[in-house]
Amino acid sequence: MCGIVGYIGSGQAAPILLEGLARLEYRGYDSAGLAVRDGEHDVEIVKAKGRLKVLSEMTDGGRALRGDCGIGHTRWATHGEPSTENAHPHCSDDRAVVAVHNGIIENYMELREKLIKNGYSFYSQTDTEVAAKLIDYYYKKYRGGPMEALARSMMRIRGSYALAVMFRDCPNEIFATRRDSPMIIGVADGASYLASDVPAILKHTRSVYYVDNLEIARLNRSSVRFCTVDQEAIEKRPVEITWDAESAEKGGFEHFMMKEIHEQPRAVQDTINSLVRGEQIDLSGAGLTDEALRAVRQVHVVACGSAYHAGVAMQYGIEDLARVPVRVDVASEFRYRRPILREGELVVIISQSGETADSLAALREAKAQGADTLAVVNVVGSTIAREADHVLYTCAGPEIAVATTKAYSAQLVVGYLLAIRLALARGTLEPEAGARMLAELRSLPEKIARILEDKERIQWFAAKFSNAKHAFFIGRGLDYAVGLEGSLKMKEISYIHSGAYAAGELKHGTISLIEERTLVVGVLTQDPLFEKMISNMVECKSRGAYLMGLTSYGNYNVEDTADFTVYIPRTDPHFTPSLAVIPLQLMGYYLSVSKGLDVDKPRNLAKSVTVE
Ligand code: M6R
Repeated sequence: MCGIVGYIGSGQAAPILLEGLARLEYRGYDSAGLAVRDGEHDVEIVKAKGRLKVLSEMTDGGRALRGDCGIGHTRWATHGEPSTENAHPHCSDDRAVVAVHNGIIENYMELREKLIKNGYSFYSQTDTEVAAKLIDYYYKKYRGGPMEALARSMMRIRGSYALAVMFRDCPNEIFATRRDSPMIIGVADGASYLASDVPAILKHTRSVYYVDNLEIARLNRSSVRFCTVDQEAIEKRPVEITWDAESAEKGGFEHFMMKEIHEQPRAVQDTINSLVRGEQIDLSGAGLTDEALRAVRQVHVVACGSAYHAGVAMQYGIEDLARVPVRVDVASEFRYRRPILREGELVVIISQSGETADSLAALREAKAQGADTLAVVNVVGSTIAREADHVLYTCAGPEIAVATTKAYSAQLVVGYLLAIRLALARGTLEPEAGARMLAELRSLPEKIARILEDKERIQWFAAKFSNAKHAFFIGRGLDYAVGLEGSLKMKEISYIHSGAYAAGELKHGTISLIEERTLVVGVLTQDPLFEKMISNMVECKSRGAYLMGLTSYGNYNVEDTADFTVYIPRTDPHFTPSLAVIPLQLMGYYLSVSKGLDVDKPRNLAKSVTVE
């Protein structure tokens, strides 16, 4: 996602802008640029494809650009290839208007046509140049000043934007506005700043205004004024940012969730390593010897939220590999439905925190009935870990973001290892096949890392759908389990209503909800179910759905049906949830970010639900 920084004060702008942009590098970019002006002098624009280092070298760290007022940008290409021409800032031909932009202007082609008819020509392929020239057009046509030109442009632009604009006639001001793309303003003694995100300016000020949708901000050296699109003044209070400028704990990521998403290769690897000795899966440390596993006649998996979804995946794995019946329950239901537990039945409680009230109560209920209990827990020494008969720890490390990612991934891995060991112990899986599966399991961290390298595609897609009201996730078998988790990720952090359905169930009711442009995410990683999934997706498409297909490399014919396809590396079909969930986590994350929401602390949610 693009990054924006702006500065007006008494210092030299360019070095400050470069430094701010560097703080936004984690957002990903392919080119960068600066526009700086020195009083009444014309604005100077410098742009470069590639890393910020290139721009910095071109400008001697910014020192070569004179001026105390400017805007800077790191661009991640959406319209037009990564190139110097397409890099921001963009400007009108006479440089009366100079702008940087983050977001996607959906009707830019239509606006471009309109401007061409009015004598404008275009040097880039970007929607941002269209925005700059549209503002210029209204500025010159109505002569109502910058605020009016911006307001008129905002009425015409469809899509998302955060815009920072300089007008030649206003040498001592920067203007900013946004819709569905983040923008913050900072004030300090004798200087004002703007940026896509707080870290860019935190070194200079902790006093920050959050610009709301369709507000316009007008910055000068000593103050910031806000108004509505109707040019009515707005009183806003700055928020005092209390967190550390370096935000060291986030490892340079904007949010803990993103950091934790990137920690998944490590979490998966550490969890595998903790339960494998030499070339053998060894659960005996938890008292789960082969003898004990052979005695298991039925498994009950009980958990809440994402942990429950990991349990649904575990059910498919254990039943398929070990041929032991598995029942999965939501803990809040299990604890009150007077479950029937018999000798030889194992109750598995999955919980990241190990403190979830319903899961703990379910554990106690199972123990009260004399069942053997196994906790799959992340927090060492937590109550569930202490009270269960056996414990398998996930090695995800501390998870801060409310939306779980790495802990869920680690839970999946424990499920695979348990299924394989159970199957080996019961003789339903040959040792050679088990060894092959373990080798494949070990390749998951690298495959997850590969998916993460391509996250910008998901980012682009999420930006396109950030205004969606509903979404549906469909899948069969393990893909249904993944859909459940993808749907929860979307709901909990982006506040978009979504539901996950077993694809075969659609025609029994849900399909009546599909209408023009409804987003339907079809997960199809299970080859034997592929054709059936395609049929279900076609059913949705013929009712107007916009289809995202999530499948493995090689299944390219999905593109005959899906409007947008995401591929994951091939793996053993039992392990595909570990890969398929990654793009879905990213989608939830980027939707939340593009809506300017609190990713790590979504409203109404707590990390650990310790009350009923
Ligand atoms: O700590 P637990 O794993 O027991 O928590 C269970 C759920 O509350 C948790 O997975 C929740 O659904 C997450 N916020 C989902 O991201």
